Amino acid sequence: MTLKVAKYALLISGLALSSSLLADEMAPMLAQTCVGCHGPNGSSVGPATPSIAGTEEETFVESMQAYKNGDRPSTIMARIAKGYTDEDFVVMAKYFSSQEFIRYPQETDKTKANRGEKLHDKYCDKCHEDNGFKDEDGSSILAGQWLPYLQYSLADYHSGEREATKKMRKRMKKMVKSAGEGSLDDVAHFYASQTKK
Ligand code: HEC
Ligand code: HEC
Repeated sequence: MTLKVAKYALLISGLALSSSLLADEMAPMLAQTCVGCHGPNGSSVGPATPSIAGTEEETFVESMQAYKNGDRPSTIMARIAKGYTDEDFVVMAKYFSSQEFIRYPQETDKTKANRGEKLHDKYCDKCHEDNGFKDEDGSSILAGQWLPYLQYSLADYHSGEREATKKMRKRMKKMVKSAGEGSLDDVAHFYASQTKK
């Protein structure tokens, strides 16, 4: 190995080492900005700010990118996401995905939640499995998420302001057509009422 190559190899390994160290050290620092609103370790104490703990890394990064490039409507997150790079999103995603989603008690309407359960089984269960406890294929965790946040999200999908996947849009349309607009509130109460684990 020539001296030049040896130096280069050293530099590269040094860089790789320092950047992985940096990522570990940076995570709590980056998360500091977020937990002010999203709660300790990403479990929000509510009610309009969603919990982000336990989200799959990919779902998390996609959400941040969608906020940043304006694909997803928001009150605050577009401005926040613009301050970070894709690499930052990955560091944050790793951190928050490894945190436990803690469900603080919230009041929900039992009648609505019961109706919502049947609607969920029929129209939503395919992707929001296990009563919304599972974040699969980017679907996010819905179980125990804050009620006002769920209501805003569903209203945004319904108005078309937030783009749902084609299949979800179809299912939502079907549900609203057969059970009325109140069905959106029913499913929101159902997911918000989920606390089993
Ligand atoms: C000032 C309060 C505030 C701060 C600070 C904040 N958020 Fe948010 N976040 C919100 C709100 C409110 C929403 C709902 C969307 C909206 O209206 O902007 C949200 C939504 C999200 C979502 C989507 C959650 C879901 O269920 O789909 C993610 C992911 C997220 N924020 C990550 C972050 C990260 C990462 C940071 C730190 C860099 C951060 N937020 C900082 C208030 C905040
Ligand atoms: C074909 C799969 C599929 C079906 C069926 C489906 N969803 Fe979704 N849902 C998704 C995906 C994927 C996302 C995340 C997309 C995004 O970021 O906008 C999502 C996101 C959501 C969110 C927002 C989560 C958040 O954290 O912001 C809510 C609320 C929701 N779905 C409710 C429903 C309801 C209610 C139904 C039944 C009427 C339903 N979904 C049916 C796939 C589906």
